[in-house]
Amino acid sequence: MSRIKVAPSMMCADFLNLEKQIEVMEARGIDYLHIDIMDGHYVPNFTLGPDFCRRLAAATNIPLDIHLMIENPDSYIPIFAAFGAPALYIHPETSYHPLRSLQLIRSCGARPGIALDPAVPVDSSRPLLPYVDLACIMTVNSGYAGQKLIPHTIDKVKELTAIIDAERLEIEIEVDGNVSWKNIPLMVEAGARILVAGSSSLFEEGTELEATIGRLYQLIGRE
Ligand code: DX5
Ligand code: ZN
Repeated sequence: MSRIKVAPSMMCADFLNLEKQIEVMEARGIDYLHIDIMDGHYVPNFTLGPDFCRRLAAATNIPLDIHLMIENPDSYIPIFAAFGAPALYIHPETSYHPLRSLQLIRSCGARPGIALDPAVPVDSSRPLLPYVDLACIMTVNSGYAGQKLIPHTIDKVKELTAIIDAERLEIEIEVDGNVSWKNIPLMVEAGARILVAGSSSLFEEGTELEATIGRLYQLIGRE
């Protein structure tokens, strides 16, 4: 099995100790920094923005994994793509022409990905799969940390894994939402290879990041 990658959800990080937390992530070989961008329209919440990404990209070499939960993503793809050629995910339903949006991401030098909300069927993404490097299965409704897994989304990970294997596609599956100690084995078993770890694991209340990274690495066999 390919190495399971870890993408801490930066909306859940300790903003008052961010520099220290990034140092810990660098020292422990964290793979990506997951940045949730929300516009208050596609999802009823606001989180991080371009300036946060700019500062982060300047402060660390850990690649950004930028999750656009915004309407009309085409207007913002060139901006976010400029932050160190990140992974850039769109929700297909937020674009009139999602395939063109994915081509725009690639033409801007970033790695295109789709993110599928729990209510969006895997099958609907089939025409887009040849144009992405990454596919994120939302395991909670987009928009907030601290939610509980929506059970059928594990079956969506399995369904997408089967399509990728059958069609020999070079796509890594990411899961985002309630990536908890209990759910991680189920998610990995279903085919998830990138874990967006937020308040349910790495940034669990009352824990230290160094310890939760170690616990997560043990759970996924990286230590
Ligand atoms: C949902 C967010 C959350 C967050 C992870 O839009 O993307 O999934 O990153 O937070 P927890 O671990 O609390 O679900
Ligand atoms: Zn996300």
